[in-house]
Amino acid sequence: MYTYQDYLEAAQALRERIDPFVPDCLLILGTGVGALAERVEGAVVVPYGEVPHQRVSTNKSHAGNFVFGRLGGRNVMVMQGRLHIYEGYTAEEVAFPVRVARLLGCGDLIVTNAAGAVNYNYRVGDIMLISDQIRLFDPDPLIGPNIEAFGGRWCDMSDVYTEGHRQAARRVASALGMQLREGVYFYFTGPQFETPAEIRAARILGADAIGMSTVPEVIAAAHCGYRILGFSLLTNMAAGMVKRAYVPGEVTETAERVKERFCNLVTGCLEALDKGPQTEAGGM
Ligand code: HPA
Repeated sequence: MYTYQDYLEAAQALRERIDPFVPDCLLILGTGVGALAERVEGAVVVPYGEVPHQRVSTNKSHAGNFVFGRLGGRNVMVMQGRLHIYEGYTAEEVAFPVRVARLLGCGDLIVTNAAGAVNYNYRVGDIMLISDQIRLFDPDPLIGPNIEAFGGRWCDMSDVYTEGHRQAARRVASALGMQLREGVYFYFTGPQFETPAEIRAARILGADAIGMSTVPEVIAAAHCGYRILGFSLLTNMAAGMVKRAYVPGEVTETAERVKERFCNLVTGCLEALDKGPQTEAGGM
């Protein structure tokens, strides 16, 4: 279990690398938008392994760097590659950098992922704006002693994906001539893909997309008061929805095909988001 001191130490180590730069928006890049990190201007790159208490990515398709700089007119902190519970990390470890970023000054979070489509109206290659999320049984980053400096014990989850940010995303997509789906992200830890029965169950419970990430980070982010925007890139139809079984490589192939559009959407959103009340660096 992390202590508040661990978060402070990580934030201090990063501050020493970026001073006087103060990030105000954290971007967590999943499969398909990793290339966005290359668009960051004046980038300062800090590998996860150089930050105290920060775990490293074991997943080959996730680079494992914090990238600080300017993107879409904002001071961003980009996570180029994220951690997953299926790598053997706890939900608290997966969410660690979200809290560190909050201490550094980030008040907005844009989170992206690759996901399977559960809604029959969706198509491979579609992008879904996340309206809400479902976590039923899988680990939760807030379990354990509550760190009051981040938020209260009983975290409100009734408006996690900020409505104002979603409106901005709809406007940006429409200006780019892109169709944007909007729906509920359902979380399983993986690493195995779901069974057709699990996908049917998730659909009955309200899922539009299914994936193995995002939810731990978003719970921690809601707890410490971020305004949150999330996108899923639908890289495949979920198990049982199409005749053929899941084809290895399908997720990365679709992500490769759609990445330009996806990167443009996220950059457009950075420009369009209402910044809201500014938080001071480490001013929690
Ligand atoms: N299931 C879970 N996670 C995923 C999927 C899926 O079908 N596609 C991409 N990530």
